[in-house]
Amino acid sequence: MRPPCSVATAVALARARCFHSFDIIPAIMVPRMTLLPLSPDELLSTTRAVRKRLDFDRPVPDDLIRECVALAMQSPSGSNNMTMQFVVVRDAAKRAAIGEVYRQCYGIYSQLPGIYIGSIDKGEDAANAQQARSATSADFLGEHMGEAPALVIACTAGRAENLPAMMGASLFGNVLPAMWSFMLAARARGLGTCWTTIHLMMEQQIAEIVGIPFDSVQQVCLSPLAYTKGTDFKPAARPAADSIIHWDQW
Ligand SMILES: Cc1cc2nc3c(=O)[nH]c(=O)nc-3n(C[C@H](O)[C@H](O)[C@H](O)COP(=O)(O)O)c2cc1C
Repeated sequence: MRPPCSVATAVALARARCFHSFDIIPAIMVPRMTLLPLSPDELLSTTRAVRKRLDFDRPVPDDLIRECVALAMQSPSGSNNMTMQFVVVRDAAKRAAIGEVYRQCYGIYSQLPGIYIGSIDKGEDAANAQQARSATSADFLGEHMGEAPALVIACTAGRAENLPAMMGASLFGNVLPAMWSFMLAARARGLGTCWTTIHLMMEQQIAEIVGIPFDSVQQVCLSPLAYTKGTDFKPAARPAADSIIHWDQW
């Protein structure tokens, strides 16, 4: 016979069982980390690609990363079948190895006219000046990726090669919103990220460094993760919404 327990204990046990497979819920309902005072619109409009303002010297606590991943898992997924996976690399030797692969990929990318960020002509002076600043920033990350205290690789189960459109869109759609949520959650906590894909030129080498099963798992994004130097980021200049909306007809 089970020993009797108090109502409070019974409720606590029931709650523990209830949250067992949904242990993200308490993490979200009771944020443990301090959040920046940003409105939803401020968060959405100031989550920038951070490179030069990453603080490489300040460690990022694992629990903070866990919270960001828990929030990322609230993103949508096809058939409600969550296939996103996050590889968080803190080990210094592995970060350095990934940084070196990124540096090599960046060297190739920077020679590609019309693709390299610094080679794109935006057609007017102010936009070209902004593009040049972004290029300097990207060049910086090309040399320093491995110095971030953590590197986050967003992955999804499955590979995109030769998939029909519906399957391909679903495969990527299962992880891209999650990674963006991760980045928003990070920004809200004073952390900086930068979406990068250049390393995918040598995806298999990255897979080997951290043991990702390349044949069955697709990487989609590599981001440095670090506290930012200051938290005052601004909205970027962007074309007007009407320049990309097609009302009723393309
Ligand atoms: C699909 C994608 C791939 C990107 N790849 C890289 C990359 O490999 N390296 C990099 O430094 N930035 C990369 N970026 C970041 C962009 O350069 C950045 O979002 C853009 O310049 C706008 O900067 P902002 O968000 O700070 O305004 C990528 C962004 C996206 C969405």
